[in-house]
This record gives sequence, C-alpha cells and structure tokens, in this order.
Amino acid sequence: MFHTPILPFARKRSIPVDASVPRHDVVKFMDVRLYLVERKMGRSRRNFLTQLARSKGFIVDDILSDDVTHVVSEDSQASSLWKWLKECAPKNLPGVNVLDISWFTDSMKEGRPVAVETKHLIQEPLPTEGSPSPPVATVSQYACQRRTTLENHNQKFTDAFEVLAENYEFNNMDGQCLAFRRAASVLKCLPWVVWCLGATQDLPCLGQHTKEVMEELLQCGRSFEVEELLSDERYQTFKLFTSVFGVGPKTAEKWFCRGLRSFNDILTDPSIHLNRMQQSGFLHYGDISRAVSKAEAVSLRSIIDEAVHAIAPAAAVALTGGFCRGKEFGHDVDLIVTTPELGMEESLLPYVTDELKKQGILLYCDYQASTFDMRKLPNHHFEAMDHFSKCFLILRLEGSQVEGGLHCAEGDSRGWRAVRVDLVSPPMDRYAFALLGWTGSRQFERDLRKFARKERGMLLDNHALYDKKKKQFLEASTEKDIFAHLGLEYMEPWQRNA
Ligand code: UTP
Ligand code: MN
Repeated sequence: MFHTPILPFARKRSIPVDASVPRHDVVKFMDVRLYLVERKMGRSRRNFLTQLARSKGFIVDDILSDDVTHVVSEDSQASSLWKWLKECAPKNLPGVNVLDISWFTDSMKEGRPVAVETKHLIQEPLPTEGSPSPPVATVSQYACQRRTTLENHNQKFTDAFEVLAENYEFNNMDGQCLAFRRAASVLKCLPWVVWCLGATQDLPCLGQHTKEVMEELLQCGRSFEVEELLSDERYQTFKLFTSVFGVGPKTAEKWFCRGLRSFNDILTDPSIHLNRMQQSGFLHYGDISRAVSKAEAVSLRSIIDEAVHAIAPAAAVALTGGFCRGKEFGHDVDLIVTTPELGMEESLLPYVTDELKKQGILLYCDYQASTFDMRKLPNHHFEAMDHFSKCFLILRLEGSQVEGGLHCAEGDSRGWRAVRVDLVSPPMDRYAFALLGWTGSRQFERDLRKFARKERGMLLDNHALYDKKKKQFLEASTEKDIFAHLGLEYMEPWQRNA
C-alpha cells in the first residue's frame, strides 16, 4: 500500500513545537500524555494550547508515539481523523483515547485531566460494507496464546484484582478467585494502558464485577472495595498468617476463628501445635518472607550443582520458575535436577540433601519420594502436585557466595540469610514436561492445560502429553516439541508471565 507522507512526524522532527521555549513547567500528571493533532487546529493554535497545557502540569508530546494516552483533535470528522491516525500510529490505537477538543478545554478549566466521557470521544466509524475491515489484533482467551512479558502497563488494575482474588481464595470462593486472576492476566499482556472502559470491549475474560472495579479506578483513581478489604481485620489476618511457610488458608482460618490475630498470639497459645514446616517458617520468617534476588538464585543453583556433581558427575541442574521467566526477584528458587541414567533420579535427591547437611547449610528439608508411575497415566484429573521425587528446603546462603552481596535487611550483619529452595528430579524422558510445568506462570500453565483439553482433545500435565483421539502419549525432549504437538506458536519463558 502507498503511504502518504506523514506530515506531523516529518515536520515535528525538524521544527519542534516548542523549540524556542525552555521547558520549566512542573509535571503534575505523570500518567497522562497528550498529543494535539495539528490538522484543522493549525500550528499557532497548537503551540498556544501546548504551552497552556504544559503550564498546568500536563505532559504534551510533539510526536505521536506509543506513550501517548490522549489524542486531542479539533477535527471532529471521525472518518478522516481515524484514517490519518491509523497511518501514523496503528500499533497504539486500541489503547489511546481519541478526544474532541471539549475534553481538553474542560481539563484546562479544572486544572486536571477530567474523566473521559462518551461525549468527549471521537469514535472510530464502523467499516462500511464492502470495505475491508481493519485487522483487529484479537486477544486470546488462553494465556498460552498471549505473549506476556514482565512489563505490565496496567498494574493499577492488576494489583487491585490480585487483592480481590486473594480474598476470594481465603474464603474458598474458587470461581470468583479465578475470574479475577484471569482478568488480571489478560490486562498484563496488553502493550497499552487502559484509559477508558470502551477500550476493553473486545477483551476476553473481563466480567461485570471486574469492569465495575476498573470503572471505579478510572473515575476515582481508587477502588473502595479493595480499600475496604485492605483495612479489613479478617483479610489482614489471613494475609499475615498465610505469609508463614507451611500455613495455608485452612490453618489461617482455624487460627482466626479461635480469635488469634498476631504471631505473638499464636506463639504464646499453649494449645496451638505447629508442625515442623511451620516451626521452620516462624524461625526463619524474616529471611524467607524477604524476596530472593536473581544473584542469590544463581548462586544457589551453583551450590546445588556442585553437591549434585559430587554424587552424579553426569547430572545437570537447571534454574526454573519465575527467574527463568526473567524476574529479578522471587519468593523461592526452583531447580530441576536431571541425570541421563533412567531410574537414578529416584534416589538422587536424598544424597544431595545429605551433602548439604554435611556442609552445614541445610536448615529445613521435606523430602517427598517419587510416586511417579507411567502406567498410572494419563491423569484425567489434574493435580497441583506432580509425582516426581522432590524436596522443599530452607538453605543457609553465605553473603560471600553471592555476586553483589545478599538481599537482606538494612543493618543485618549476620553475613548470611535463609532461602527457600525447591528441588525436583524427573526421569530424563519426562524433563521437557517437568520444565514446562515448573517454568510457570501458574496462569500460563492453567491455560496451557485447558487449551490442550478443550481445543486439542489432549491431556497435559507435568509428566506427559496424551492424545485422547489417538489414544497415545506424545513424546517430547524439548519444550518446543510440546508446543508443536499442541499446534501452538512457541513462546519463550520470558513471554509466559501471564
Ligand atoms: P512458584 O510458586 O515458585 O512460582 O512455582 P514462581 O512463578 O517461581 O514465582 P515466585 O517468583 O517464586 O514467587 C513455579 C512453578 O512451578 C509449578 C507451579 O505451578 C509454578 O508454575 N509447580 C510448583 C509445580 O508444577 N509443582 C509443584 O509441586 C510446585
Ligand atoms: Mn519460584
């Protein structure tokens, strides 16, 4: 297609609107970036309005980039304006507000960006019959078909959704909990900020309740439901109790119902019996409730790698979980240990933990022997836990072993910290499935399994992929093989942060 020269770009580059005006205006509204369309407005009026807005604390961009949130035009002829916009910035359009000058004048009057209302919008005209409809980038209902990096443009909404989801989880309302997690996951994949509810109309997984919360956040900058929860005693207590290693919502509920509200209440109540996991959870609470850094994870991988090699020279240790998806911080370190000799993986981990014990760095160990049996597959009901040999550990990590030092509290001079580490040891021929499962994110895994079942008639879990029609297992030695079996485009781990 022939592209008409895009004047505003070309011209703006050579003669910026405010080339002669030094910018000393204080920015008051960081989240809002305006772009004023010169067509119909004219250059001198555009200059004037630009300076007016900047003097009131608005950011006004000279160039229509992906960062712009509000496009303001005096050309209310929707069809010509939209045609022009699509030529300039086709990528950003779904997320941007295209507004009539009335929104701008209202905002200048109020001295702040006023809420976008329908009367302000210059709506995109519907395609007339016969003319090709514009390609709409549809967002899949499955997270495994949405590339989701760690760059979240809609954190304001996803943070609010996470609080609500968590509260539903505390109250055993799994359906509602999942609804908010799925909605958050969809918003996380968007390369643009949601500025008005209209922009979400083509998105999947956003229900009535989620939209109400978004509307409130858009209009008032806050959600009263979320704020109420954050100061709610039950929510706060559950949040506190479940932050302890070994304490889930059920235990939190039991303690809450007994009238316990603080760690002190629990630790001084003689009728409370803590299991071994919870005892360690309290003992190392300060350390293991603090995030683990990437450098600490890398160091722990090497420590485990050395311990493994002392016993099985051909074995390998891979970092998985959130760090594998590019996260800088995580709540634990997830490692997969493999050995090429089939069968040996079943007995490997106890030797490894023995070695760690000898080194004096094993602070806690919960070993779960393998219950994996290929003859019991496929699993028709997905279980959260897989059957591979694994252990949940707390290890002592010396600061001297971490590049750049430990991620620890200010004034902490111990020179070491405790870190939660999970080791899993699948048979070599199950490695790709285990890796895919442990790399996460949880939402990505959930949708991958759902996609396999609903769209392909296959059963996927951490052990295997089973084709129900062909009645056979599909083999894989890499993650790419599994995506290919499922007929899905491959996604790198850093694109799986759904
Ligand atoms: P995590 O809970 O460690 O999550 O589980 P994460 O993504 O690494 O996040 P942070 O940074 O630690 O908080 C990692 C993955 O391992 C899977 C989970 O489903 C998740 O996708 N997993 C965990 C299993 O498949 N089986 C298990 O027994 C435990
Ligand atoms: Mn993890």
